[in-house]
Amino acid sequence: MPNFNVPDPVFEAAARQFPTPFYLYDEAGIRETARLLGQAFAWAPDFREYFAVKALPNPEILKVLLSEGCGLDCSSETELLMAQHLGVRGEDIMFSANAMPPHEFALARRLGAYINLDDPSDIMTLHNHGGIPETLSLRVNPGPEVMGDNQFMGNPRESKFGWMPQDLSRGLDKLKSLGTRRFGLHAMLASNSLIPGYYPAQADYLFRLGLSLQAQTGVELAFINLSGGIGIPYHPDDEAVDILSVGRAVREAYLRRFGENAKVALKTELGRFITGPHGFLVTRAVHYKEGHKVFVGLDANAANLMRPAMYGAYHHATVPGREHLPHTLICDLTGALCENNDKFAVDRALPPISLHDLVILHDAGAHGWSMGYQYNGRLRSAEVLRQMDGGFRLIRRAETPEDYFATLDLSGA
Ligand SMILES: Cc1ncc(COP(=O)(O)O)c(C=O)c1O
Repeated sequence: MPNFNVPDPVFEAAARQFPTPFYLYDEAGIRETARLLGQAFAWAPDFREYFAVKALPNPEILKVLLSEGCGLDCSSETELLMAQHLGVRGEDIMFSANAMPPHEFALARRLGAYINLDDPSDIMTLHNHGGIPETLSLRVNPGPEVMGDNQFMGNPRESKFGWMPQDLSRGLDKLKSLGTRRFGLHAMLASNSLIPGYYPAQADYLFRLGLSLQAQTGVELAFINLSGGIGIPYHPDDEAVDILSVGRAVREAYLRRFGENAKVALKTELGRFITGPHGFLVTRAVHYKEGHKVFVGLDANAANLMRPAMYGAYHHATVPGREHLPHTLICDLTGALCENNDKFAVDRALPPISLHDLVILHDAGAHGWSMGYQYNGRLRSAEVLRQMDGGFRLIRRAETPEDYFATLDLSGA
């Protein structure tokens, strides 16, 4: 079920301090989940979580995760610059993207980051823009072999990510001739997967493939990167993934393939699993309309949280102080965009809502703010951290029209 660990008075207190809409993140929950993940993989040599910056790219959140021992998984120049700004360098950064512009390779190399190549053609691009490092990583797309045509990533044959498995050995030979001595292997075969067997199946495939590539090429297998994709229970009927038992199942596969004394390191790049449940979009009801159905308009919209509009994704909604009342209001929760898919919920049963009531959208702590946009000139909201002492801190102000106009030259207008 969704995360109900933050009680209503917390949202009410935050909303007295900051104008809605804003994102509220719970530091204690984020730390607790990061530690649980570490516990699940404590058995693995050099286990490291590289938090997927794209999930929640706020430096104050990244500082929390860095202090928990995480590295950063960056996917663009801007994310690399954010890591650099935080003083993160070298093997504390994983750079993993698709269709990577050459100058981003060069920046990643200057920072000493691990680079995860997505395609054989990237070899020469990297060679010419930053150079081939002694250790690098390859992302593989095994097709439907491991997870089948799963509902989470769709048909793997349609996926734009990763090397064809049959190209890897030749690619590694080429990399070896250019100076590579050690390699990592990476795959991300699902997104938001609640299937307990997802990581173990992916791990087993990568362990096997890594060993076979090492034997074929003589390049040492340094690490396996299980990437992200573990899901969270957005819906009340969803069951959370038991990460401790996932860790045990991955360990079994590790021992089966590598044996007791292996040194192959294990890495993850989870985003949603770490911060998703610990972020909330705090909004207010600002409009009520009885049309062919009832529409409750919020002061946030899809430009603040795109997932429902983009994927039809479910985010649980609650009305602080009213949850004990019968949920007899059947309504759509809408935003103000000129788009009919600008709805956070459709035909949702809620308690009675009055104008100015708070409405909380749960589990918005990953791929929430970061997928925001500015359609209709609607602007991105503020972000607030609920710190360990219970106090609130503004960690990103809301955008203003000046921000929107900042990329324009209006002097001649
Ligand atoms: C390469 C890579 N790693 C990690 C992640 C994080 O995924 P999630 O937040 O679903 O765990 C993503 C998400 O798109 C990704 O593309």
